Amino acid sequence: MSEPLISAESLVKTFDKLTVLGGTSFTLGEGEFVAVTGKSGVGKSTLLGVLGTLDPAFTGDLTINGVNVAEASSSELAELRREFMGFIFQDFHLLPNLSAIDNILLPAVFSGTDTGQVRADAAAILLRLGLRNDNTPTRFLSRGERQRVASARALVNNPRVLMADEPTASLDEESEENLFDMLDSLRKEKGFAIIAVLHSRKILSRADRVLELKEGVLHEKHA
Ligand SMILES: Nc1ncnc2c1ncn2[C@@H]1O[C@H](COP(=O)(O)OP(=O)(O)O)[C@@H](O)[C@H]1O
Ligand SMILES: [Mg+2]
Repeated sequence: MSEPLISAESLVKTFDKLTVLGGTSFTLGEGEFVAVTGKSGVGKSTLLGVLGTLDPAFTGDLTINGVNVAEASSSELAELRREFMGFIFQDFHLLPNLSAIDNILLPAVFSGTDTGQVRADAAAILLRLGLRNDNTPTRFLSRGERQRVASARALVNNPRVLMADEPTASLDEESEENLFDMLDSLRKEKGFAIIAVLHSRKILSRADRVLELKEGVLHEKHA
């Protein structure tokens, strides 16, 4: 078996006296689709923040793409996030006054890698996700369209892992299924893994594994 993309053991995360992660383990294999579920406030977003190296204040062993996160410098972690991971946040975090393509290209503009190739990749992924490449500010787009812009931004760098925190919250069932049809076919084509916080039974049934976070620990559930 190949090395897992992400492997975590004895993860502990507390906020003052509140223990959100109480020594849980987690692994993510190449190309796998893992769903995380659990009640509101149980710590799913906190878990994704730790696994996504966005939150350095935890204890336990966390290895991502062979990098020991606790020992890595902040620039090594930034590189890991930029080159290895893509994120879809719950409220998308799009800049409302920028167009779809400008939102997607923003990280490249900041990191000085805004080349013709990156622009072509961004246009291709937009097209693939069925979005217009025009100057409409994303604040005028529907929620489903904004969701697709956020997905395109997460995937433009060809990450090995896509992390998504309740990406379909407040989408209707049809848009939710459409989104996962698209993400799943892209996953099969490009081979990235998905870890997503999800609730809908229909979508959960598509995951390779479903984990329920309960009292600080992930439990394997049947998909
Ligand atoms: N920055 C923070 N400071 C203090 N408490 C927090 C912080 N972030 C989250 N929490 C608390 O941690 C718990 C888990 O939150 P969260 O991970 O957002 O849950 P979920 O995503 O499962 O709804 C909640 O009780 C929440 O209030
Ligand atoms: Mg959450």
